[in-house]
Amino acid sequence: MTLDLVIVGCGGHGREIAQLVAAVNEAAGRLTWRLLGFVDDDPAERNRKRAEATAPYLGTLGALGQLPPQTHVTLGVGDPRIRRAVAARIDALGLPAASLVHPDATVGADLVSAEGLVVFAGGRITTNVIAGRHLHVNQNATLAHDCVVGDHVSLHPLAAVSGDCHLGTAALIGAGAVVLQGLRIGAGATVGAGACVVRDVSAGRVVKGVPAR
Ligand SMILES: CC(C)(COP(=O)(O)OP(=O)(O)OC[C@H]1O[C@@H](n2cnc3c(N)ncnc32)[C@H](O)[C@@H]1OP(=O)(O)O)[C@@H](O)C(=O)NCCC(=O)NCCS
Repeated sequence: MTLDLVIVGCGGHGREIAQLVAAVNEAAGRLTWRLLGFVDDDPAERNRKRAEATAPYLGTLGALGQLPPQTHVTLGVGDPRIRRAVAARIDALGLPAASLVHPDATVGADLVSAEGLVVFAGGRITTNVIAGRHLHVNQNATLAHDCVVGDHVSLHPLAAVSGDCHLGTAALIGAGAVVLQGLRIGAGATVGAGACVVRDVSAGRVVKGVPAR
């Protein structure tokens, strides 16, 4: 069955998801997802042009209201807090969210994930992970055993979250950051790129460096 799909966001993250969709279709050997296009409330001209090289720009998010109710969406927005706000608008429209896993990613068979999961090439989710809605695991990022992850969390490229961690809603783990095992990262917290987190991080805090402070 072919499902229609719209990507919210013409920026780099949205266009990387378009590439992911193409890879999923290619690996399946059939058109699993038909990419109808992109929506974006205020795309930069250059991003709009770049997106249109792949699929049409359909207009602002308001255009989603004109689509058949079975049309899936994926949130091509890298910032977890913005993704959370966009998700609220999508939810109001009642459109289902696609889950997209790159063929070169690996995801444990026992993963329990809410809708909207996006795992890019080289992303790894191992065993006994419970994930909320719209979790994005970017290129070569890893989420190890027994983690519990809230809604709208982002692992940026090469982030490594060790086993038994709790990541709160809309937490952001920066590129190349390491979170040691068993730690809690609070809701809305940001772990800077390249950080090594050795203690719990409270909600809304920004930490960076090695060890992260
Ligand atoms: C940590 C972070 C959230 C801080 O953002 P910010 O508050 O806007 O920080 P600024 O850019 O104003 O920099 C403030 C200071 O922190 C330093 N800094 C910024 N990011 C840092 C990081 N990741 N590690 C160590 N120091 C960092 C800056 O050099 C600056 O130092 P200075 O005051 O001595 O000049 C951000 O830099 C970051 O790392 N975000 C993750 C981004 C990411 O993963 N991007 C990949 C996208 S795919």
